[in-house]
Amino acid sequence: MSARVFNFSAGPATLNQSVLEASAAALINYRDQGVGIAEVSHRGPEFSEVLAEAEARCRSLLGIGDDYAVLFLQGGATQQFELIPMNLLRDRAEYVVSGEWAKKAAKAAARYGTVDVIGDSSASNFNQLPAFSADRQADYLHICSNNTIYGTSYPSFPDHPCLIADMSSEIMSREIDVSRFAMIYAGAQKNLGPAGVVLVIIRRDLLATIPEDVAPIFSYAAHAKAQSCLNTPPTFGIYMLLETFRWIEAQGGLAAVEAVNRRKAQYIYDAIDHSQGFYTGTVVVPEQRSLMNITFTLPDEALTKAFISQAADRGMVALKGYRTVGGIRASTYNAMPEEGCLRLAQFMAEFAETAQ
Ligand SMILES: Cc1ncc(COP(=O)(O)O)c(C=O)c1O
Repeated sequence: MSARVFNFSAGPATLNQSVLEASAAALINYRDQGVGIAEVSHRGPEFSEVLAEAEARCRSLLGIGDDYAVLFLQGGATQQFELIPMNLLRDRAEYVVSGEWAKKAAKAAARYGTVDVIGDSSASNFNQLPAFSADRQADYLHICSNNTIYGTSYPSFPDHPCLIADMSSEIMSREIDVSRFAMIYAGAQKNLGPAGVVLVIIRRDLLATIPEDVAPIFSYAAHAKAQSCLNTPPTFGIYMLLETFRWIEAQGGLAAVEAVNRRKAQYIYDAIDHSQGFYTGTVVVPEQRSLMNITFTLPDEALTKAFISQAADRGMVALKGYRTVGGIRASTYNAMPEEGCLRLAQFMAEFAETAQ
């Protein structure tokens, strides 16, 4: 097998090698039982243990209290864009449009009730988070905490009695105070595991408010009651999340992971800032720079193409920026080794020097 490359993909994204190896072994033969973990009943003892341990480790890593339900569901983050208003929008909800995904979430919610977009930075191509002032009486305030495409993230979170955050591209990358949120959700395929699982953390008092006419498969209350087993959950994906949680714990938990992520991002931001203008960071407010998605441009398209191709020759792949931003996007999720970011930063310096 050829050596693994440094994969800077925005998602599905790189996974830690020990997580992959443990998951591969469990897929073939789980605990030497002659059967793989994807081949057993979701209601049997093997998977029930996996689910319970995944939930317990998730709670412990994020410091989630008993007043929250933790769910592992299907449908991705996009399905949550619909489920949130179906379950929680009665009168009026507020949305902050800080990027493509936040915009999609707001558009989805508008199908179900009144949605006020209280901040929108689309006019500056989302190069910063919009300013906003929220009405605490609204049913909820929805934000996207890390904007995967544009490379912005919230250095601190708004204070709101019903704050809902899409954390798909930064979940478990830094310490957060879950008690500040009414609900957090995240598609797994960036920081947690393979596509096909979405993690939902929801305050239990909200479950009681969900209308009974919401079909059970779309109801957070029904999923919480059934403890993620209303129907067949994505069993193998959940197993991979469990391995990821074990790995994060072995790293020392979120504080330790955050420290590494800060160093990783700093190598690349320093390479941008020390390039005498050869690289331009696309985020204009430094404290809003994401630790997970680092976006920058080069002087022209030909140089951008050469950068991507020469980086690939050096074992660094999936660096092309999203089409609405162009340039480069380096996604540096938890599983990206520090060495990958160091190498990229070194290559950036070399490339800038030879090109100038
Ligand atoms: C912040 C954010 N929200 C939502 C999504 C959509 O996720 P899914 O494809 O799981 O529906 C993505 C996908 O990249 C994302 O980055």
